[in-house]
Amino acid sequence: MTNEPKPRIGILGAGQLALMLAQAAKSLGLDIVCAGQPGDCAEQEARVLPVDLDDAAAVAAFAHQVDLVTIESENIHADVLHGLPLYPNARAIGIAQDRLLEKRFFHDCGIGTAPFAAVDSLDDLQEAIKSIGLPAILKTRRMGYDGKGQVRLRDPEEAAAAWTEVGGVPCILEGMVNFENEVSLIAARSRTGKIVFYPLIENHHREGILRTSIAPFIDATLQHEAENYLTNLLAKLEYIGVLAVEFFVANGHLLANEMAPRVHNSGHWTIEGSATSQFENHLRAIAGLELGSTLSHPTVMLNCIGTMPPEAETAAYPGLFRHDYGKQPRPGRKVGHLTFPATERKAIADWQHRLHADL
Ligand SMILES: Nc1ncnc2c1ncn2[C@@H]1O[C@H](COP(=O)(O)OP(=O)(O)O)[C@@H](O)[C@H]1O
Ligand SMILES: [Mg+2]
Repeated sequence: MTNEPKPRIGILGAGQLALMLAQAAKSLGLDIVCAGQPGDCAEQEARVLPVDLDDAAAVAAFAHQVDLVTIESENIHADVLHGLPLYPNARAIGIAQDRLLEKRFFHDCGIGTAPFAAVDSLDDLQEAIKSIGLPAILKTRRMGYDGKGQVRLRDPEEAAAAWTEVGGVPCILEGMVNFENEVSLIAARSRTGKIVFYPLIENHHREGILRTSIAPFIDATLQHEAENYLTNLLAKLEYIGVLAVEFFVANGHLLANEMAPRVHNSGHWTIEGSATSQFENHLRAIAGLELGSTLSHPTVMLNCIGTMPPEAETAAYPGLFRHDYGKQPRPGRKVGHLTFPATERKAIADWQHRLHADL
């Protein structure tokens, strides 16, 4: 043990991921400051300084006040990131924030993906439809999340409308994968290159938004395959921190969908379900501390989309852990989540029905 002072950490963003990072920082004695806007939900746990994240000078001034910087969203302009003491590094974030670079990078690392093609014009889209076939999804290269910036195509006649709908910005066309399952793997890599993995997580989305995560997804072969893929990605990116990769399971194999260079919604269950949460391990990695054990027990997480259920109703279930991010209700918005030990079958079934059956 050394008595080195603990670093002060700046987070670009002040939403729920920053909030949960700040909660985890408490037990580590780390000081967290967020760059955001007044009223952002991380204010409940940390100081939030008003910073325009599109303004490189303002972000540089914010970074000056802390020892190291991390992110809660990859959708930050690459120009703003250069020259910051940033973990993970700007190259990793730059690849993860552009679906074309990301897919090419997966291929460079020997990881399969859905068939895809770059689309920069309506002509490109028509060509891509011929080479990839339909159904397919047109996705903006940048700034997409929770299914935003995506249009599904079933008929070549829909091309012009889809191109208009995405706003004519650079895109990729991706062939639709007829997957058996969606899973994710979350890993943390320390400054010394040590890696820990959580178990594979089974994820259920509706309308492009994560609804349910079930851990673990038990398949020793796929766990091994996924861990090998992430080991390779992490090393090639010289990555420090938590990385999440979403996969499709198709014909019994993994196809990479996308990666998130940060803590991930499918890992929220680790707060109660693992010896060390993804939030704590991210902070440990970037602060140069030893990584914590990822020993886990079976856990289920349900997202609350749009509104939080009343407290009195969740309180009726003793096995339930309620996380209310304190955000204003809005359709399609992630406002909180509920976590259950997997043994709480009745509570899980009740709440799954209650939260997600109306869609
Ligand atoms: N090529 C595809 N084939 C089948 N389903 C897809 C494909 N791409 C995306 N989806 C579905 O849409 C969801 C959201 O898409 P994703 O690319 O992960 O974007 P986001 O950044 O919004 O999470 C996925 O989790 C999956 O359910
Ligand atoms: Mg996704």
